[in-house]
Amino acid sequence: MSRYTITSALPYTNGPVHIGHLAGVYVPSDIYARYLRMQGHDVAFVCGSDEHGVPITLKAKKEGITPQQVVDKYHTIIKNSFNEFGITFDNYSRTSAPVHHETASEFFKNLYENDKFIEKVDEQLYDEEANQFLADRFVIGTCPKCGNEESYGDQCEKCGTSHNATDLINPKSAITGNVPSLKQTKHWFLPLDKYESWLREWIVEGHKNDWKSNVLGQVKSWVDDGLRPRAVTRDLDWGIPVPVEGGEGKVLYVWFDAPIGYISSTKEWAKENGKDWEPYWKDKDTKLVHFIGKDNIVFHCIIFPAMLKAHGDYILPENVPANEFLNLEGNKISTSKNWAVWLHEYLEDFPGKQDVLRYALTANAPETKDNDFTWKDFQTRNNSELVAIFGNFINRVVVLTNKYYDGIVPTAGEFSEVDEETLAKVKEYPGIIANSVERYRFREAMGELMNLARLGNKYLADEEPWKQVKENPERVETIMNVALQIATALATLSEPFLPFTSEKLKGILNAGSSGIENSWSAIAEKEVLLPSGHQIGKAELLFAKIEDKDIQAQLDKLEATKVANEIANKEVEPQKDIISFDDFTKLDIRIGTILEAEKVPKTKKLLKLKVDVGIDTRTIVSGIAESFSAEDVIGQKVSVLVNLAPRKIRGVESQGMILMTDTMDGKLAFIEPEREVNNGESVS
Ligand code: 2FM
Ligand code: ZN
Repeated sequence: MSRYTITSALPYTNGPVHIGHLAGVYVPSDIYARYLRMQGHDVAFVCGSDEHGVPITLKAKKEGITPQQVVDKYHTIIKNSFNEFGITFDNYSRTSAPVHHETASEFFKNLYENDKFIEKVDEQLYDEEANQFLADRFVIGTCPKCGNEESYGDQCEKCGTSHNATDLINPKSAITGNVPSLKQTKHWFLPLDKYESWLREWIVEGHKNDWKSNVLGQVKSWVDDGLRPRAVTRDLDWGIPVPVEGGEGKVLYVWFDAPIGYISSTKEWAKENGKDWEPYWKDKDTKLVHFIGKDNIVFHCIIFPAMLKAHGDYILPENVPANEFLNLEGNKISTSKNWAVWLHEYLEDFPGKQDVLRYALTANAPETKDNDFTWKDFQTRNNSELVAIFGNFINRVVVLTNKYYDGIVPTAGEFSEVDEETLAKVKEYPGIIANSVERYRFREAMGELMNLARLGNKYLADEEPWKQVKENPERVETIMNVALQIATALATLSEPFLPFTSEKLKGILNAGSSGIENSWSAIAEKEVLLPSGHQIGKAELLFAKIEDKDIQAQLDKLEATKVANEIANKEVEPQKDIISFDDFTKLDIRIGTILEAEKVPKTKKLLKLKVDVGIDTRTIVSGIAESFSAEDVIGQKVSVLVNLAPRKIRGVESQGMILMTDTMDGKLAFIEPEREVNNGESVS
């Protein structure tokens, strides 16, 4: 038995968690933690909300609330949705917790007192109008490495490079849009250059055979480019106060405090459970594994290890299996653009279908390259794999066992060659799946789990117990016994990947009762998992088909987001040519009321309206049917250009034009008076 400390990147609390986070970090780490616990290892699986940093301050500014209100809102949403989704953190903390403030402050003080920092006064970017220093996401400019014009002050999201804000070319304040000036300020820097050769030896050389190539590639490239001292404090008011002399009005850089959050979360968990936290972070036999997305590699493979090394009391990660990114329907997932499938919304839209998403995200995990999530693929994974393979096999086994034997496991007679081969193959799966999981190849591991379900399906389809039950009942008893052993193996081996299904299946097989072998190792070692004479339960569907209409509803939601983004980003049309006052007075615009409305047959957009414009009641054909139904507009006050020359539209003479404007959601809106006005009043 070994001790493991498993960490999942602390999500920023400036928005909820989406499928990109799940596929990259939380589903794989949960599979890993569940798997290790099943092997009997001592596991601390920790996470928590990352509540400091500029994204939170920006969100608070945008919503007109305090940063504390932002983090309280999203911490609750995130924590609850992880829980409902079956992510089995041993502890989910938050970086605003007192234990974290203490731990991070102590860590900083330790490095300070042991002269591990460089204290330096130099020039930093400053926004005169906002009266504040600009660091991290408060400043946007051109990345000195790749030329991306929208790089942040501390990191370029395009090439992943981490830099100082003053390195940006053409920096602009994200608060006011102004070009910043330079102002002197004091900060503490971690001299990463001093750790360069150690990092090269430890990671580039030392882990060249066991770390993922995407991680090694990034680390090598940074180390080859040369590391420079990095400021670990900021002139901000949201964060952990710098706990040393001269630190007044300054806070710790969010990427200094956040990874220490893993330690604080472990401390919180240990305290609540009467354990000692220290072995999980200080015993050299403990295996520390960080699950992260690729944008976090520099922080977990360079900066945090350098901090741990500088401190000296801590272990270093045994592995950092970072994933690439998941896109959504061909576009980059984005919290600010609302281009995402949010976990809390998924849980509402697909109640009880946690495992379907876990399956789809693992089957399509961005382990070696960016991948794309599509709703069509999600539906196919469910209908053609979970329902048609896994669910179908279990359903057949349970239905037939109930039908032939009232749910009592029959006794196996003499095994045929096929039976022997099938049972031998079942015994290989725990080892095959374990091998993939231990190399962080969760996609491959889950593919193997499905191969076990395929084996079961093929066995039943080849042996056809339903055809033999009359004339060869003894043979059928053996077939069903074998099939039930496969079903029991599936119930156990699916636990890390499809935990809700595993539990349901164990319930159906009544596999929790005594005498049932359902450990990982038993599947590899025992001849019999479910003994003859054991009573199983009734059939229940493990997975249900997902209908086209449910998929369409999700696609419609995304389409609406796309339209909203297009409108939000729409450039305001340039002003038209100047007209004279006389030209303007020629336009006769009056207030009117719509009295009647009907759809113009065979058109999508047109409504035929009767409008009282004060002067008279006239017919106007208006292209508003995609925004309003005929019933909606009756009684509506409108502005009408009444002296527009009449013209025929689809055979109807239109005597004027209703004035409209575009709304944020891609629809039309009326221009109506804000107070009571008589029909016929002029708009001027
Ligand atoms: O990228 C992010 O969402 C960060 N909040 C991850 C922090 S991980 C850590 F080190 F805490
Ligand atoms: Zn870049």
